[in-house]
Amino acid sequence: MNSGSFDSQNETAFCMSDFVKRKPKVSARPILSLDVFGKEESKCPAVLDVGQVKLTHNARTALAHALRHANIGHGASVMLPAYHCPAMVTPIVWVGAEPIFYPIRSDTSVDIDVLPKYIRSDTRAIIAVHYFGFIQDMRSLRKFCDERKLILIEDCAHAFFGSVNGQVIGSSGDYAIASIMKFLPIYEGGCLVSARRSLEDIKISYGGLFLQLKSALNTLEIACEYGRLPLVNIFLRVKSWIWNRLKSKHDEGKSPKQLDLFENTTGDDYKFDPNLIGLSMSWSSIAVMKSMSFSYACERRRANYKVLLNALSNIKGAQPLFDNLPDNVYPQVFPMLMDFPDKVFKPLKCLGIPIIRFGEYRWKGVDASTCPVSDELSRRVFQIPCHQSLTPEELRWMIDSIISVLNGIR
Ligand SMILES: Cc1ncc(COP(=O)(O)O)c(C=O)c1O
Repeated sequence: MNSGSFDSQNETAFCMSDFVKRKPKVSARPILSLDVFGKEESKCPAVLDVGQVKLTHNARTALAHALRHANIGHGASVMLPAYHCPAMVTPIVWVGAEPIFYPIRSDTSVDIDVLPKYIRSDTRAIIAVHYFGFIQDMRSLRKFCDERKLILIEDCAHAFFGSVNGQVIGSSGDYAIASIMKFLPIYEGGCLVSARRSLEDIKISYGGLFLQLKSALNTLEIACEYGRLPLVNIFLRVKSWIWNRLKSKHDEGKSPKQLDLFENTTGDDYKFDPNLIGLSMSWSSIAVMKSMSFSYACERRRANYKVLLNALSNIKGAQPLFDNLPDNVYPQVFPMLMDFPDKVFKPLKCLGIPIIRFGEYRWKGVDASTCPVSDELSRRVFQIPCHQSLTPEELRWMIDSIISVLNGIR
């Protein structure tokens, strides 16, 4: 494989080249296929095992529920790591609280010693993130919060599976939130869980039939788009025809606000739509979640991570962010620390590698002066998918492409 070498001048030419046009289509997220419905071979601990569970539309609505449930709103502040994405901030602002960003260590862990400097008299809660599925030991942070009567919210958006010190992930927080759609082949879905509080009074309901259909069809459509479930493809052509008719009927006489709700039901952007707070995960997503094998997903994620780790550990221009895979980790992605992020981001994207750069978009006012480490991580860490739906060929192609692009840096 030879991508040639490139710099900023020939970047555009590279993106237009025949080499790039031959790219396969690789998904950033798990895709529905028949092999996910195997038998459980072993127990893979998941956030859902924590205790009280409320299934939500996504993780950001789960966070809004947690804050409201803890009576956090106007006049309060909530601390969250400076290495963040706007989806973590919008629910805080929506409940009326003020976000305070605290710095983290270069291994993404919380530095308890710096936290007191950021706590104010109105601070009510601290959010801690298990980045990329690598689980942080929460014991000292739990103690820290208990001593100061602060609410601890574990953000498990990157860590649906795993355990620490014999406890399932999400058990240490007063609340934990997760983004189930990042781990299972479903269109939307998140959860709020708690090992410490009753969530009974939180009211969440299923959306109407239209939203249920939309979610189910989107999951199938994505599977077909990536070449899984070929037979469903025929059915989907018929669906398109029915769908367009249904949608035009649904939109008739709706106010712009109601139409917005419909448009914003994708889980992938950072917008926060308050209309989605009352919505549960859809029937089809729940059905997939209940019938699929978690152990299959867990094992495949670990196996794919190890393939990436072996292939991309000693290469020019990049290093893995974490150089081993602890037994209790079921990674969301393979995070790589790039030496020249600005030179390789676009070429890798052009090739079709579905890289995510967590922290690429930041809340206004958060920059290198807030936390130099977070600033560096948000520029240099690229997340390569390692989910269960990747085929060996897709993995090989991503590895070859990454090495080829890194070798081409001038
Ligand atoms: C750390 C973290 N927390 C929360 C969220 C929000 O998740 P969701 O998209 O399910 O609302 C994200 C989204 O990417 C995230 O990365």
